[in-house]
Amino acid sequence: MANRGGFSSKFGFIMAAAGSAVGLGNIWGFPYEVGQGGGAAFVVIYLLFCFILCFPVMVTEIAIGRKTQKNPVGAFNSLGYKNWNIVGRLGIFSGVLILSFYNVIAGWAFGYIFEMVSGNFGIAEKFGEYITQVFKVGAYGIIFMTVTAYVVSKGISGGIERAAKLLMPTLIGMMLILVIYSLTLPHSMDGLKFYLIPDFSKLSGSVIYNAMGQAFFSLSLGMGALITYGSYVGKSDNIISSAAFITLADVGIALLAGLMIFPLIGYMSAGTMEGAGRGPGLIFVTLPQIFGTIGGGLGIASGTIFFVLLCFAALTSTVSLLEVPVAYVVDEMKIRRARAVWLVAALIFVIGIPSLIGNGYSDFFSTNFITYKEGGQDTDFLSFVAALANDSILPLGGCLISFFAAHVWKKHNLDEELSIGAPGYKGSFVQKYLNFAIGYFAPIVLTSVFIFTVLFKFFGIQIL
Ligand code: PHE
Repeated sequence: MANRGGFSSKFGFIMAAAGSAVGLGNIWGFPYEVGQGGGAAFVVIYLLFCFILCFPVMVTEIAIGRKTQKNPVGAFNSLGYKNWNIVGRLGIFSGVLILSFYNVIAGWAFGYIFEMVSGNFGIAEKFGEYITQVFKVGAYGIIFMTVTAYVVSKGISGGIERAAKLLMPTLIGMMLILVIYSLTLPHSMDGLKFYLIPDFSKLSGSVIYNAMGQAFFSLSLGMGALITYGSYVGKSDNIISSAAFITLADVGIALLAGLMIFPLIGYMSAGTMEGAGRGPGLIFVTLPQIFGTIGGGLGIASGTIFFVLLCFAALTSTVSLLEVPVAYVVDEMKIRRARAVWLVAALIFVIGIPSLIGNGYSDFFSTNFITYKEGGQDTDFLSFVAALANDSILPLGGCLISFFAAHVWKKHNLDEELSIGAPGYKGSFVQKYLNFAIGYFAPIVLTSVFIFTVLFKFFGIQIL
């Protein structure tokens, strides 16, 4: 077998996997989903999904990856269950879809670095116009995809691992400072209330579906990204504690993003929280406002540094998204890595073009290309792809992976793999819970929520 590369250390794997998890999903996706989902009630459901359901799925994905040392399709083959590799194929398909729109958003964020450098905080009001300048933001997208492909072509360990170790803590530090700053603004407490005090009357089926999709998306689960990363993990590593760290880091950073954004919305709206439900543009409108209120050189410096760090966080995610189809093409089709990377990256960029132009530039892709209706509203191409990939395929993938591990591959094999590097695992409460979660809880809950989600989002039929 060709040298697939590996992580240079246990810490390297954790940083890379946490780097995959932490990205636009936390800082762009989470606050906007909270805003649209009515605030704290969404947060509660999201947290429940992350810890109760997603954590066991994460452990399972990493274990399958380490056991087989393969990409998501090869992994099922090498365990001897060829029919199940459809789950891997589904994962690769959703990875391609996710990267196609993710790169568009990353391109927007990348362009913001230049807006901040030039002190253009007024971009907040002009965001709607900014994203219709498709040649400009498209060029940013090309640059972003090129950097992603370059990193992936260099192999999994190396520069990115080292950079992650430095930049992730910096991002957290910077967010903490911004949280403290936004809390000093007038009316920030109204934002905090919206974000932290749940009003369960706001709970509806769609809040639950979106919270589930967001949990899977943010934790990079359900499509085999962590099977692929797990394939590079050493046998002496403790999968359980690594997964716990990754989950906590990811959830922690999402929560911080909310703490940064909602007090600011409280301030900007003088306490009415108007604008919180704005949707995908949320951080692109609120963040320049934070930096604008700081103002002057300090505002410019902090705005610039923030968007550089955000782009870096996005890069460690796009790298993992591209790595999945690339690992598949390299392992299964025997195409050289260097060539596979550029081919796949170019293809995904092209698939992303409707998402790029569907934000006001092309009427067709912005509103009426499909009769897909969620809550009776026509939707744009990017939101459609996100609903398909994040909210539908990822949870389905997570469900199938859990069911497979518990009932096809069998729990004792999973337990065997997990206990390598984790001596206390067997007989522990964690083992008992994982067996229950993967065997029964996750398959049942995820299948039901998946069915409800698809009926609601794509057919307008509301059961829950
Ligand atoms: N978790 C990443 C984020 O939050 C996105 C991602 C999803 C990456 C699925 C890999 C796989 O930004």
